[in-house]
Amino acid sequence: MNISSSNKISESVTWVGKWTFVLAAAGSAVGLGNIWSFPYKVGEEGGSAFVLIYLGCILLVGLPIMMAEIMIGRYAQHSPVSAMKKAALDSGKTGYWQAVGWTGLVSGVLILSFYSVLAGICINYIGIAAMPSTEITSVEQYAQVTGSPLRLFFWHSIFIGLNIAIIASGVIGGIERMVRLLMPMLFILMVVMLINAMINGDFKAGLNYLFAPDFSKVSSETFLSAMGQAFFSLSLGMGSIMCYGSYMRKSENIFKTSLTVAGLDTLIAILAGLAIFPMIFAYGMEPQQGPGLVFKSLLAIFIEMPLGNLIGPAFFMLLSIAALSSAISLLEPSVAYFEENKIVSRFAAAVILGLLIWFIGIGSVLSLNNWESTFFLGERNFMDSIVYLTFNFLMPLGGMLVAVFAGWFFKPKLAMEELSGAHLNIFKTWRFFIKFISPVLVASVFVYQLTS
Ligand code: PHE
Repeated sequence: MNISSSNKISESVTWVGKWTFVLAAAGSAVGLGNIWSFPYKVGEEGGSAFVLIYLGCILLVGLPIMMAEIMIGRYAQHSPVSAMKKAALDSGKTGYWQAVGWTGLVSGVLILSFYSVLAGICINYIGIAAMPSTEITSVEQYAQVTGSPLRLFFWHSIFIGLNIAIIASGVIGGIERMVRLLMPMLFILMVVMLINAMINGDFKAGLNYLFAPDFSKVSSETFLSAMGQAFFSLSLGMGSIMCYGSYMRKSENIFKTSLTVAGLDTLIAILAGLAIFPMIFAYGMEPQQGPGLVFKSLLAIFIEMPLGNLIGPAFFMLLSIAALSSAISLLEPSVAYFEENKIVSRFAAAVILGLLIWFIGIGSVLSLNNWESTFFLGERNFMDSIVYLTFNFLMPLGGMLVAVFAGWFFKPKLAMEELSGAHLNIFKTWRFFIKFISPVLVASVFVYQLTS
């Protein structure tokens, strides 16, 4: 059975540049997850042990699932919902597997709603770091930014507007053009930050903190946190990578590109750690401060250090760029779905979905301002509920189902064709991991979370 006759996209789009898939997927992967949350989680979880466990999660769980997502997307050449359906029907299985695609679309929309509010704060900080107020401390500054609903709302709106404009301009004219511009900028800014940490920071202390083995602080929470972080950072379980994979040429090698994307994502996270911790130590601050690490401590450092009013804005620019190239990959899967099923044009879909996400995001703006809405998921406010729902539930569920599908239901022959170009041993190893290792690890984390 084949659904392609009833569900065909008018013209299937492919990336123009040879490196675009890698740039776009790395753009999706490298985001606030790498530069903002990886370092603060390393800090909270006590340093090097977390880093090591994180690397394990990337290799054992992340990489195989990333390959599976790309394979399914490229095989079907459709947006995630239809891609899952086509891959399932062509493997002689039920089309209900499309539910996995739907899970992805829903979590993408929900994640973007708060991601945008956070990204808005980053954009706002470019200006704050360039012209820091002399009257208040960085802690007060942070309280002022997050305590002003209007300000959050303004930057959230700007950020969503950028996303709509890029996605409305199309896969080639919007996404491809932007990632080719943004990714080199991101890389240059990262190098600048690293050089800064070498000159102005205590680099050795930073290296030690990230890499000297210290297992005294490992708990089951460390594993949970590392696995969630790995999933989020690689953009898995949300259809983003599957959707970008559907635009990938058949001639490209899925194993090599996945390895490159996962490698770049991990490299940038580690480099972000190496850009931040040496500064934290050199200025006598504490690494375990949680989400405020870059907004409070780092800002305080930028205010004090030489050329801080240039380096500081560069850092927040880096964060904003990383966030933008990730955010567009959260919006694209649902817009692609609307477009391919001819529900509305791409332009209209980008505007409608963008506005919907913008609207949901207002809930997060208000949550940061002590809007006590405990009607949702226990004692959590609106934003925390969405974070909880997506991080602990939808994302691992989506990833696990992709793994189960790819390992147990997707016809091996089709998977092998997609992996062609790679050595047979690579196919066999991938299949072993995607069948037994990845789903079992995700499932155990999932069950632990639900029962603890
Ligand atoms: N990977 C992105 C980050 O690290 C976030 C993201 C998740 C983007 C899922 C797309 C899909 O910030």
